[in-house]
Amino acid sequence: MTLLAPTPLRSLIQAHSETLSAQLQQHRARNFPPSATKSFRRISPGEACRLLNVSESTLRQTAADASVGEAGPGARRTYSLEDVANLRAIVAQGSRTPDRYNPRRREGEHLQIVTVMNFKGGSGKTTTSAHLAQYLALRGYRVLAIDLDPQASLTAMFGVHSIMDLAPNSTIFAAIRYDEDRRSMRSVVRPTYIPGLDLAPGGLELMEFEHDTPRALASRAGGTLFFDRVAEAIQSVEADYDVVIVDCPPQLGYLGISALVAATGVLVTVHPQMLDVMSMSQFLAMTKDLLSVVAEATASGSGEPTYDFLRYLLTRFEPNDGPQNQMGGFLRTLFGEHVLNNPVLKSTAISDAGLTNQTIYEVDRRSFTRGSYDRAIASVDAANAEIEALIRKVWGRA
Ligand SMILES: Nc1ncnc2c1ncn2[C@@H]1O[C@H](COP(=O)(O)OP(=O)(O)OP(=O)(O)O)[C@@H](O)[C@H]1O
Ligand SMILES: [Mg+2]
Repeated sequence: MTLLAPTPLRSLIQAHSETLSAQLQQHRARNFPPSATKSFRRISPGEACRLLNVSESTLRQTAADASVGEAGPGARRTYSLEDVANLRAIVAQGSRTPDRYNPRRREGEHLQIVTVMNFKGGSGKTTTSAHLAQYLALRGYRVLAIDLDPQASLTAMFGVHSIMDLAPNSTIFAAIRYDEDRRSMRSVVRPTYIPGLDLAPGGLELMEFEHDTPRALASRAGGTLFFDRVAEAIQSVEADYDVVIVDCPPQLGYLGISALVAATGVLVTVHPQMLDVMSMSQFLAMTKDLLSVVAEATASGSGEPTYDFLRYLLTRFEPNDGPQNQMGGFLRTLFGEHVLNNPVLKSTAISDAGLTNQTIYEVDRRSFTRGSYDRAIASVDAANAEIEALIRKVWGRA
């Protein structure tokens, strides 16, 4: 009989970590050579019209006058996202109602900070954050995506590998840390390959915030308290954006609370199944307790944070699944208008796109069966349009 030789856990995990990391680096070097940067596909005339809110003839005329776009197959012009942004500026400039074409916030409209959360892992937080950020940027809003998750999945969706591409101290952690290595938020934020969409990347170093916060609280040193740190970082770049999307980690730590305090709108992603809803119930109870602690701490200061909206978004929804429908109906009965009307459907087009760190907006429609691609994009668009409408309502627009 062979006895299992006891192995120290630490050395075994270290060996596995090194093997896996080396393999992943090789895989990345093969599939994504260092020179490869992510880019966005070209935009068809029909899609450009929808993004710009103009007719085909206006698009054709404006693009021809300004020599924007490239002749594609069948002499149809196609457009880069930069072209679309240029066309938007031209159309708005030439219009008596420029606001129809330029959605940016105006004087008196406050920055919208939408925090996407739920401590249930895999509830669709990152997928929702990436799709919402892209949806808004494609329509001309100035968007900042913040990845508060040490797993850095949102960062990866935007083509940045947190370990291989980022120097130490260049994630959002650098802008909220307590010690002298703190950097400005502006130096942390980087443009993405999508015009109008910037990223404050995440990474493993964000874990340090969870470790350092108790120490900072005990010593009462380090300036701003933990729950105001994300808000403070965002405030320093406030003028540059219309909407900020914050993707949270799947636990309710100091980072999550700080993101919640910064928020003007909260999106709770929930897969409508019993275990997920039970977990969400605990999440709500815990959040309430933590917000009470924050409220006590701020009683003498800025006061309890207030919100423009809180919405539940049903994710990975299967319309033909009876129990999911029941659960969705149950949530609607309980929370009424707080549940968004449009769920995001479960779709292999979305999960397949995710495998290559892409959103459904980025992938080529021809790589999917038409029906599944069209259904998926219609459901994502509908949910995002509802959130866009909420934001515009907060700003007092029609
Ligand atoms: N609508 C959808 N249809 C199919 N697959 C989806 C859909 N939304 C998300 N997924 C897949 O489910 C998985 C989890 O999604 P995601 O990473 O967005 O969740 P998360 O809440 O951010 O997870 P974590 O808690 O680990 O941060 C991913 O593989 C993603 O591609
Ligand atoms: Mg995530």
